[in-house]
Amino acid sequence: MIVVIHAHPYPSRSRAGRALVEAIRPLPDVEVRSLYDLYPDFDIDVAAEQEALARAGLIVWLHPFYWYSVPGLLKHWFDKVLERGWAYGDGGVALAGKRCLWVPTVGGAEETYATGATNLKPFAHYVDPVEQTARFCRMVWEEPFVVFDARVIRPEDLARHAALLRERLLAYGGAPVRPALEGAAA
Ligand SMILES: Cc1cc2nc3c(=O)[nH]c(=O)nc-3n(C[C@H](O)[C@H](O)[C@H](O)COP(=O)(O)O)c2cc1C
Repeated sequence: MIVVIHAHPYPSRSRAGRALVEAIRPLPDVEVRSLYDLYPDFDIDVAAEQEALARAGLIVWLHPFYWYSVPGLLKHWFDKVLERGWAYGDGGVALAGKRCLWVPTVGGAEETYATGATNLKPFAHYVDPVEQTARFCRMVWEEPFVVFDARVIRPEDLARHAALLRERLLAYGGAPVRPALEGAAA
C-alpha cells in the first residue's frame, strides 16, 4: 500500500503538483490524502492519519516547496501525527522500516540551488530537515523525486516527470516492505 500525503493550499491553481498526483492516483494500492481538502481548518484527525500510515509500506510526501520547506499544513501534520510513543521515542515504532519518498515541486531551476547562486546552497542542503524527520521516525529514506523549475516547466517535461514518478511507484509496488527494525524505540 502506498499512501500519498499531498499538501497544496490551492489545488485549483496547482499545475506541477496536480500533474504528478493525477499520474499516480489511478495506480493500484495508492491512496492520495489531500490534506488541505481533508482539513481546511487545520483540525487534523490524528487517528485517521495514523491508521492510513499504518497501512502503508511506502509513504509519499508530495507538495510545493514553500520558503525552503513544506507548506504550513504539512508541517502541522508532522507536529500532530508523528507523535512520541507512536512514531518515535519509547515504543514509537509504528513507522519503522516503512519507506519514505519526498516529492517536492520546486519553483527555482536546479542551477539556482548552488553555492553563490540565488538560492545560496545546493538543494541537498534543504533536504536535510525533511530527511531527518523521516529518519528520526526510523523510516527508510528513498532518493527524493524533485521537480525543479516547477512554475514554468514545459508541459512535455512535466508529463515526462509525471510518467517517471508513476514508474517509480509501480516499481515499489512489487517490492517487499521492509520489516520493522529491531529495537527501533529511541
Ligand atoms: C508561498 C510560496 C513560497 C515559495 N517558496 C519557494 C522556495 O522557497 N523555493 C522555490 O524554489 N520556490 C518557491 N516557491 C515556488 C513553488 O515551489 C512553485 O510555485 C510550486 O512548486 C509550483 O507547483 P504547483 O504548480 O503545484 O503549485 C514558492 C511559492 C509560494 C507561493
